[in-house]
Amino acid sequence: PIPVIIDCDTGVDDALALLFAVRHPAIDLRAVTCVAGNTDVDGVVRNTLTVLEQAGAPEIPVARGAERPLIEPPRSARHVHGHDGMGDLGLPAPRRTPAGVDAVTLLRREILASPRPVTLVPTAPLTNIALLLRTHPEVTRNIERIVFMGGAAGAGNASPVAEFNVWHDPEAAAILLTAGVPITMYGLDVFTRVVVPGADVRRLRAAEEPGARLAGELLAHRPAAPGSRPDDPEEDAGGLGDAGAVCAVVDPEGLVTHRLPVEVSLAPGPTRGQTVVDRRARIGEAELHEGRREQPLVDVALDVDVERYVKLYLGAVEGTGAA
Ligand code: BDR
Ligand code: CA
Repeated sequence: PIPVIIDCDTGVDDALALLFAVRHPAIDLRAVTCVAGNTDVDGVVRNTLTVLEQAGAPEIPVARGAERPLIEPPRSARHVHGHDGMGDLGLPAPRRTPAGVDAVTLLRREILASPRPVTLVPTAPLTNIALLLRTHPEVTRNIERIVFMGGAAGAGNASPVAEFNVWHDPEAAAILLTAGVPITMYGLDVFTRVVVPGADVRRLRAAEEPGARLAGELLAHRPAAPGSRPDDPEEDAGGLGDAGAVCAVVDPEGLVTHRLPVEVSLAPGPTRGQTVVDRRARIGEAELHEGRREQPLVDVALDVDVERYVKLYLGAVEGTGAA
């Protein structure tokens, strides 16, 4: 299996990502690190521990990370993710506490200890990852790829042009993009498209098994398909969100990516936090190596096979195969 570490701000859809990572046999989830984002970092730690317990994986190490972005004050997304940051589903408090080390220390330890290069999957503001790269740059030698949920080639969500994770800590995102390792940007252009149909969500909610049932509850909390009415069978439909980025680790062929220069706008004002994706031309890898371009090249996901990822997700979470 692929050694994976998730850095998250659990978070309704981060929880969906954790459930999938724990259940998919091609993934060896080695650690989970937490950062302020959807809610405060202590809430994120609590939610993360609870999800791993519900998923039947209480042994995975979890560490608490940054409580605020590098420069900005923290700005939660409780209006989207509920007061507890995870849909206010009334889940039990976790039985255990996080690891005795901070997120950066755990990330360094697990990355360097892995017998195979690790795939890092940030599904949150990039603060922990930026601190890691600046504190322990040697970790990049054992990172296979960073597949991050963040950014947008098109419209934003936190602002007209900026996606929440990048908007929350733009400087950290800029540090990530220049890490010098292969990067896949799983941004809003694909993030919003992978929606689990209402009938599947209803089946999950009725499941006996707690992990599958939790996935159903979380999906039902995700915004319904745009324009749906209460009597619409698709009212229960829910987006995979961050979980799609983990699907992309298992099944990169389900995405269409273009290798393009990406720059984060750090200027104050209306574009701050925008990922400026240069789509004017496809740039070859050779140019990157020759240093002819100033902006790092990123594999930007511009299209996704929705049915394929929904099937992959359900197969893993319900334990019905599709490995
Ligand atoms: C991102 O923001 C968060 O609210 C979600 O968990 C996701 O990671 C989407 O912009
Ligand atoms: Ca998230």
